[in-house]
Amino acid sequence: MKRQLPKRHDLAPLMRFKRPVWSPKDRRLAGALTIEDLRRIAKRRTPKAAFDYTDGAADGEVSLARARQAFGDVEFNPAILRDVSTVDTSRVVLGKRVALPFGIAPTGFTRMMQAEGEIAGATAAAAAGIPFSLSTMGTTSIEDVAAAAPDGRNWFQLYMWKDRDRSMALVDRAAKVGYDTLLVTVDVPVAGARLRDVRNGMTIPPTLSPRTIVDAIPRPAWWINFLTTEPLAFASLDSWSGTVADLLDTMFDPTVTYDDLAWIKEQWPGKLVVKGVQTVDDARRLADAGVDAVLLSNHGGRQLDRAPVPFHLLPQVVAAVGNDVEVHLDTGIMSGQDVVASIAHGAHFTLVGRAYLYGLMAGGRDGVDRAIEILRGQVERTMRLLGVRTLDELEPGHVTQLVRLEPRRL
Ligand SMILES: Cc1cc2nc3c(=O)[nH]c(=O)nc-3n(C[C@H](O)[C@H](O)[C@H](O)COP(=O)(O)O)c2cc1C
Repeated sequence: MKRQLPKRHDLAPLMRFKRPVWSPKDRRLAGALTIEDLRRIAKRRTPKAAFDYTDGAADGEVSLARARQAFGDVEFNPAILRDVSTVDTSRVVLGKRVALPFGIAPTGFTRMMQAEGEIAGATAAAAAGIPFSLSTMGTTSIEDVAAAAPDGRNWFQLYMWKDRDRSMALVDRAAKVGYDTLLVTVDVPVAGARLRDVRNGMTIPPTLSPRTIVDAIPRPAWWINFLTTEPLAFASLDSWSGTVADLLDTMFDPTVTYDDLAWIKEQWPGKLVVKGVQTVDDARRLADAGVDAVLLSNHGGRQLDRAPVPFHLLPQVVAAVGNDVEVHLDTGIMSGQDVVASIAHGAHFTLVGRAYLYGLMAGGRDGVDRAIEILRGQVERTMRLLGVRTLDELEPGHVTQLVRLEPRRL
């Protein structure tokens, strides 16, 4: 082999020094390529009790593990030799066009995960052209979210309280400031058994005890943010002086029925979505009741553990009611591939809970932007690799669900 000294003009094209990124946060977020990467950063930066509250699910956390496994068991069937130089990820959802086939799910106590909380979620969603859902148990007021994201599409999630008039007062406030969709969550007649929270002795807001102080030492940024911003309070309640258990007891009403839903529907001027649908029969009943969408969800596995996996339920529900109502889905989505698989199997739209919260905990508003960017990139690339240019071209044939567990047919 004949050797020679490298010449300057041969070396020049090989030397590409990246411009240094000075901000540690930007460096951290730029290094995150998946939602799982954001989760790892989030875990390092968030006190254990708040991280576990977000990351955890009910009882043995079987529902959540199965939901993620179901997406992992997807086999994609790509079509080849299609022109996919451009892809369109937008679609009309509940009467208005959204830029991507996913939105942000409602989550409670969001400012406990990271001080920017709901404002980070709402403004990032507005910038990306996707809906943001504010929870009844949110920690930013209905009006403040609307003011922070005036051009955004804001949805309000309702837990029907025992005090019906007070819960409908929230709905009125949401309608007044332009929320266009109401999600009524129906899978919480009582709170699920979140064992991690019990084991961590979780309190809301977090309290300083010898254990939490030790836990705080490697996570100073979280505590500085927490202690130097407005105290954590429930935006929907003027004040709350009782215990967390009393609060949940007030929030969740085990007597809510289909009649209450009809009553809410009469009063709400916008679109109505029922969140937490878990059987074909209930989806049919809701379609007959005239709702605009059913959201297949088991609350991210946080309620009835071993509840059906929404992705498994999806084809049957779409076959039963897909022509009458929009079928939406959440639970277990950790990538754009999961979103695309859901759309191919007939979901009209999806929501992400933890995927957004991991971004929030990893870097506030910038972290939520990063989470959306990661999911957007994965949706676009998967569509291209599958040979489709629009969401409407996605069809069940693009996805095979590899069956691991099959129900015994009686
Ligand atoms: C920390 C946390 C808090 C939540 N709070 C609410 C809530 O207040 N109201 C509600 O309807 N759903 C709530 N959910 C459920 C989400 O709206 C959504 O159904 C779930 O997160 C979807 O699963 P995923 O996290 O795997 O995306 C919460 C979920 C999480 C993770």
